[in-house]
Amino acid sequence: MSIAVIPGSFDPVTYGHLDIIKRGAKVFDKVIVSVLINRNKSPIFTVEERMELLREVTQKMPNVEVDSFHGLLVDYMHTKGARAIIKGLRAVSDFEYEMQMASINRLLDQKIETFFMMTNNQFSFLSSSIVKEVAKYNADVSSLVPPIVEKALKQKFQEPRE
Ligand code: PNS
Repeated sequence: MSIAVIPGSFDPVTYGHLDIIKRGAKVFDKVIVSVLINRNKSPIFTVEERMELLREVTQKMPNVEVDSFHGLLVDYMHTKGARAIIKGLRAVSDFEYEMQMASINRLLDQKIETFFMMTNNQFSFLSSSIVKEVAKYNADVSSLVPPIVEKALKQKFQEPRE
């Protein structure tokens, strides 16, 4: 069985991520969307909230599983028996960092391959950071994220922050 991992922060999942997940799930037998547990970042959604949103938006995709991981991606991939990493490329600006990541991951384990997919043109400008910026000022994000994520963002920005 071909198993691919789509790793990321997903803070929160956007239509850009969803496009890559859907297309990846057509190519691989199983796709594991895995949220990085990274204590150095300050996400607005907890790992559990991000996983729950991912589960909701992928619930109609039978070969997509949602999970989380910490530490090295290649170590996590071993525990899942996965040999492929799927990454979305939005623009040339993504290339340098992604090439670095793909190279280091291949150095760490030559059996692991990174597959790049060009993000659909309509999402080439889209990132979780942009979505958070727009949502923070109460502007319309309905064309950027699924309705459930839009609702979660509204609730999040209404919560009193520390
Ligand atoms: O959505 P993001 O924040 O761009 O995702 C980055 C991610 C999770 C793909 C990347 O940070 C990652 O793979 N982190 C795990 C640690 C690791 O294996 N790093 C590469 C070798 S140093």
